[in-house]
Amino acid sequence: MQNDVVLILDFGGQYSQLIARRVREANIYCEIIPYNYSLDKIKEKNPKAIILSGGPSNVFEENAPKCDEELFKMGVPVMGICYGGQLMAQVFGGEVTRADTREYGQIKLDIMHNDGIFESINEEIKCLMSHTNFIGKVPENFVITARTKACPVAAMKSQDGKLIAIQFHPEVEHTDRGKDIIANFLYNVSGLKPNWDMGDFAKEMIEQIKDEIGDKRAICALSGGVDSAVAAVMVNRAIGSNLICIFVDHGLLRKNEGDQVEEVFRDKFNLNLIRVNAQERFLSKLAGVVDPEEKRKIIGEEFIRVFEEEKEKLKAQYENIDFLVQGTIYPDVIESGTDKADVIKSHHNVGGLPEDVDFKLVEPLRQLFKDEVRAVGTKLNIPQEIVQRQPFPGPGLAIRVIGDITEEKLEIVREADWVFREEIRKAGLDKDIWQYFAVLPGIKTVGVMGDERTHTHTIALRAVTSSDGMTSDWARIPFDVLNKISKEVVNNVENINRVVYDITSKPPATIEWE
Ligand code: XMP
Repeated sequence: MQNDVVLILDFGGQYSQLIARRVREANIYCEIIPYNYSLDKIKEKNPKAIILSGGPSNVFEENAPKCDEELFKMGVPVMGICYGGQLMAQVFGGEVTRADTREYGQIKLDIMHNDGIFESINEEIKCLMSHTNFIGKVPENFVITARTKACPVAAMKSQDGKLIAIQFHPEVEHTDRGKDIIANFLYNVSGLKPNWDMGDFAKEMIEQIKDEIGDKRAICALSGGVDSAVAAVMVNRAIGSNLICIFVDHGLLRKNEGDQVEEVFRDKFNLNLIRVNAQERFLSKLAGVVDPEEKRKIIGEEFIRVFEEEKEKLKAQYENIDFLVQGTIYPDVIESGTDKADVIKSHHNVGGLPEDVDFKLVEPLRQLFKDEVRAVGTKLNIPQEIVQRQPFPGPGLAIRVIGDITEEKLEIVREADWVFREEIRKAGLDKDIWQYFAVLPGIKTVGVMGDERTHTHTIALRAVTSSDGMTSDWARIPFDVLNKISKEVVNNVENINRVVYDITSKPPATIEWE
């Protein structure tokens, strides 16, 4: 069955993917297309609704991005958000005004018509405004449906209610009932039914991959993390054993992690998996290295080297390895797309792309957010202990042993981390905490055990709440749980006589210590 499709015309706004996500959350299939897509191509897709995104331009500038105006006459409901809304106003003869100052923040919205997109939104809500221009005068045959103190047209609609412009951003969390506003546009204004889910996404994507790769082969660097796991399982469903997964065990994984990855993916999922035990190789390269960025660089480079070697071996064996599968997800795309932001840490993803690859990339998760990837993984029956895994950095424990890395230090942090994670799980806190792990700061302090003086390691515990890892707060673990964790760590892990808990948010700290 062909799904009803909603098209999102992207005018370069920072929230276009978020709009798509909200549509998917409403269980409706959508596609993002460039704003200048031709009318014929749009018609070919037979959209049931169209959303025009925001964007950084001014509609009255000469080269402002415009869509084909005919799309407003297709009889399909169109909702323009911010720039998209201003464009609609301009096309129909309204006026877009430039304000003296930018209106930014959560602003009280005065809803004047409780129908259409505002149906059943009867309480006072705040919406996120972020604009300099606004619709100053609505076109003929349009009515104002909401306003704010500074913005006379926070929303407008055409007489038949099918063309809607809004100045605020319903797609962001800072707009109260934003999801309902979008759902109202889809269900109420456009008459769509929620008939699509992440299972459909997986099925469609698997078909697409089948077509793309055909009878060629693909390789994939499997790290054991959620993203590469879900990507690999999807491609495996599409091309079977023609997908060869390479799992590089760099010796910096958590307790039992290497074996678990092997067991789940080779035995349960029947993936064609090569495990490369490169522990010694990584450790010898890292010996004596103290600087965190240097560690990341070494691990990143060594990873690529190991991967290339395996690839060459495979290429000698098979002729048609043309594709490389990557578990890239949307936040990775945004992060790597910003060239102005300061490099706080050069994130290295094990499974990262060697620079000189002669492969075609297959990135089935490129448009999804983390929790959507988890939903796809669940639909693919990947075990919850993999799907719900907390984020784990590519360089692994190397950036959780502060200073130089030795086998002994890795063992201490690995064991302490295991005990900590077990206790969090037992306390039922694992779902509430975004990331929790042990760090070995490399300081030794004096303690007393039995009658004996000790002079040994301090372990630091880090647990944070976050929604995306960009900012975070330290998790308020109850004191009695912390007390139990402290005792369990000291009693069960050798060479630790002190446990400290990190109570810094991000910023000013980062989540990882290095
Ligand atoms: P920070 O420490 O920058 O971490 O606050 C934010 C999130 O990113 C993870 N992280 C990394 N992930 N390679 C990765 O794949 C890295 O080099 C890296 N450094 C940090 C960190 O665990 C947290 O989830």
